[in-house]
Amino acid sequence: MIQSRRPIIAIDGPAGAGKSTVAKRLAKKLNYIYIDTGAMYRAVTLKAMQAGLDLTDQPAVEKLASRVELRFLSGQVGRVRCDGQDVTEQIRTPEVSRNVSAHVANYSGVRKALVAQQQALGAPGGVVMEGRDITTVVFPDAEIKIYLDASQEERAKRRFEELKAQDREQPFAQLLADLKRRDEEDRNRPGGALVRVPDALKVNSTRLTVDKVIKMIIRKIKKQEREQVIMTWFYTTGYILSSLWLRIFHRLKAYWQKQLPSQGGFILASNHASMLDPTALGVAAWPRELYFMARSTLFRPRWFGWLLHMVHARPVTRGKGPEQDWDLFVKLVRAGKALLVFPEGTRTEDGKLQRGKSGFGRLAHKCQAPVYPAYIQGSYAAWPKSGKYRCGRPVSVYFGPEVPLGDLLEQPGEKKILRQISGRTMEAIAALEAEVRANQATGAQTPPGG
Ligand code: DC
Repeated sequence: MIQSRRPIIAIDGPAGAGKSTVAKRLAKKLNYIYIDTGAMYRAVTLKAMQAGLDLTDQPAVEKLASRVELRFLSGQVGRVRCDGQDVTEQIRTPEVSRNVSAHVANYSGVRKALVAQQQALGAPGGVVMEGRDITTVVFPDAEIKIYLDASQEERAKRRFEELKAQDREQPFAQLLADLKRRDEEDRNRPGGALVRVPDALKVNSTRLTVDKVIKMIIRKIKKQEREQVIMTWFYTTGYILSSLWLRIFHRLKAYWQKQLPSQGGFILASNHASMLDPTALGVAAWPRELYFMARSTLFRPRWFGWLLHMVHARPVTRGKGPEQDWDLFVKLVRAGKALLVFPEGTRTEDGKLQRGKSGFGRLAHKCQAPVYPAYIQGSYAAWPKSGKYRCGRPVSVYFGPEVPLGDLLEQPGEKKILRQISGRTMEAIAALEAEVRANQATGAQTPPGG
């Protein structure tokens, strides 16, 4: 079975909510890498101050941000290095705090450069990343999302105690006013503003100890892991039963399966001739687990909906046209799953390939992921749309090389481009069909594209 990468734990929340303490402890406990994105904005600010830049000079600060190299030292949780210099303590001064939130964090060029670095750091997974825009901009598809909050008074009180313990006492009223100003700036920043996404676990730490907060987060991770194990068990059982049925009664064969990537998200685009297709493609693509679309009405008896969910079917409402909401499927692909889609939308009436729908183009464009063609042969004869199921008819599945869509996916998603994406994908399926037929005529078995 394909082992997916370790999760990304994204934590957002206002200043002083306890994100750093929680994230550090969590990273240590799980043996994950801890990434403090606030420290990155602070390091750029410090560097600009050291270079004597005017911090209101946006282009100059942005230029500097695009060049700095930021590193988090492994084995020394929480220490940060900027262009080779350890700046962990220097970035915590009140002057840096003021300048970062009033100027540097607001610059779009700075955010772009740092978000790219954060995405590169987190991409392998197994990280706890904290900041303001991690769940919204940096990793909107993170497996675990947390929004950590606490009342303003409590956060100011914590800061007060912290400074007092360091003999750097400051009046409580001033700390509270500072915090209110920073909250205001964080929530109204033009890019990367602090907001809570609906699927984040909201934890209010006002009356909770750090231990309790960590326990809540670990509980969420464990629950998600348990669901994953159950889902894998169901999918595997479904695979075994379907595989027995299709191999015994339809002599199912899969060809050129090595064309498919063994890891990472992609769309598998197949012709659609029969009710048998999703199951046959699911068996043929194994060990890659495929996610499917199923009519939302099928999910209505709740127990059946749960069962469908467990074998990776996800609901789609038919007939919505351009209004169709693809977010759920885009998320799946971005999270590294393989999604089976029939670009023709419905089963063929006559066994021939139909035109691709522009809805497929829209989905592929939103996913920005590779598309691979599949051609299923024989399923029409075994169970056509307006005909009876015939046991014993052979079914075969063929996989082709990636559809060359790069140039189209780069362009804005206008109707013309979406149609071209669907068109080119259907051409790739047709080319695969032609190749299969040519091979069958000569008895050759060379995979397409090499
Ligand atoms: O978490 P912190 O206080 O160290 O963050 C420092 C500043 O950087 C703060 O003003 C908010 C900003 N920041 C941001 O805009 N986006 C992030 N992902 C993290 C921090």
